[in-house]
Amino acid sequence: MPDRPLFLRENVQVEPLVDQWYAWSHLLPPATAARNITERHLKIMDSYISAPQVHASAVKNPKMLGGPFIDYGGRRVDEIKALRERTKRDRSDLLELSEALQELDNRLLSKAKGYSLQPLYAEVPEILQGYVELVYDLNNQASFKLIESLLYRSKYYDRSAQSLMLSLIGGDDRPFVLSTPRLEDETLLHVRVPFDDSAIDEFFRSKTQPRSFDAYRDLLRLDGNARADRLLRSLLTEEPPAPYVGYSGSGVRWRYFGHACILIETGGVSMMFDPVLSYTYESQISRFTYADLPERIDYVLITHNHQDHILFETLLQIRHKVGCVIVPRTSTGSLQDPSLEFMFRHAGFKNVLGLDSLEEIATPNGSITGLPFLGEHSDLNINAKLAYLVRAGRHSLLFAADSCNIEPKLYEHIHREVGDVDAAFLGMECDGAPLSWLYGPLLTRRLERAMDESRRLSGSNFEQARAIVERLRCKDAYVYAMGQEPWLNYVMSIKYADTSRPIVESNRLIDSCRQRGMRAERLFGEKEILLEPALESSPDPVLAVGQ
Ligand SMILES: [Fe+2]
Ligand SMILES: [Fe+2]
Repeated sequence: MPDRPLFLRENVQVEPLVDQWYAWSHLLPPATAARNITERHLKIMDSYISAPQVHASAVKNPKMLGGPFIDYGGRRVDEIKALRERTKRDRSDLLELSEALQELDNRLLSKAKGYSLQPLYAEVPEILQGYVELVYDLNNQASFKLIESLLYRSKYYDRSAQSLMLSLIGGDDRPFVLSTPRLEDETLLHVRVPFDDSAIDEFFRSKTQPRSFDAYRDLLRLDGNARADRLLRSLLTEEPPAPYVGYSGSGVRWRYFGHACILIETGGVSMMFDPVLSYTYESQISRFTYADLPERIDYVLITHNHQDHILFETLLQIRHKVGCVIVPRTSTGSLQDPSLEFMFRHAGFKNVLGLDSLEEIATPNGSITGLPFLGEHSDLNINAKLAYLVRAGRHSLLFAADSCNIEPKLYEHIHREVGDVDAAFLGMECDGAPLSWLYGPLLTRRLERAMDESRRLSGSNFEQARAIVERLRCKDAYVYAMGQEPWLNYVMSIKYADTSRPIVESNRLIDSCRQRGMRAERLFGEKEILLEPALESSPDPVLAVGQ
């Protein structure tokens, strides 16, 4: 029995954790991690310890969805206290780093008045010396650039804080994970494997390549205790998965997996945008899942650095299939704009390529071109965002994610460069969260509430989206990245009603496109489209439309 080859089940939920908090893209770069530990994690834990019942009622209030509240029903206070103490003890270096960043910011504000910054190097907090360059903008506003490459090599990047929490999942209902640390319990298998460990690839490869129970135990370095063995055994099965049927036609097949996640198969190449996948289990809502992935994904393309577009939970599970990760190139060194190239490499991705706007990658039957992505980042100076234009045969598809068309002239320039685009995929979350929701822990000075409210993470509204579609002379318009799939509620803090502005505005776009004879819809759940190969005379490029 123990020697039988076993597959990893399709519904093994894997939560990557840092300090037992759900891992997202500001918890890896050392400086943003430091700020999040002191300004988010410790503050949320302090607040819970002093008033657990306030948290218990806040998480029940739909208006507070996504707020800084721990979802343990007012219980487990002692465990939260223990985690807080452990964090302070084990992460003391990062606590100091966070304080040093704050001090440096304050010092620059009070002392950098337009004169040479060189004398101020002596006043950089000691632990930051050699890790920052002091700079002015052209109007004498001082700031600092982090030397991220060195910070990742320092004691401030500690892989031992990373782990995976394994369990079985049977439905969409999953609590919001970004405000509640994950505590151990009898039903969870907590394994201390850092994200860059190749054991993770071997583990997930076991969904299609079985291995013995002992081999699994060795991979996860379990010490043979009975509880861990029992939990591990529950994750495994003798039953092989159904084989994947890929697309080998000479056209293009695209499949919508939910939110901004789309898989394209064309010309022998596969590419996936912003991977966020559902596990496989019985459900009323039909969808593609981890079971619907090709053996190899040649390109994973990341549009921008928000939690719903960079999801380590999915990324680590598919890493062994991925040829190359394409990310927007970033080298600002600013706290709010950590390098995605460094981050992905440190998360164990071997082949990571930074792309800039109008840079192009050739594919066997076309190309991938980076295009500018404006807005949706609260007016912060952030480079890590890029839209992608995919050309495949005679088809062209634009993946604009949450790009906000705050400057329609941009699309005039883009059109001049790339010409007409067949299909546009546009996010229309036009009522985004205020700046502080995501970037609050990075701020070292208080932001006035009115300013915070005015600077939102908003995508295009109807007029803005329509201007893109018209300027690029699109034939098809798909609204996506709306966060409405119920299996993604655990990382999205948005639930729209029919009267919510993003729904009203996207309905207007769809109506207006259809009136012009275009194909238009808001994607939800699952969708498959086959685009036929080059037949210049064909009036309609779509061969078949799935649900
Ligand atoms: Fe976004
Ligand atoms: Fe988004």
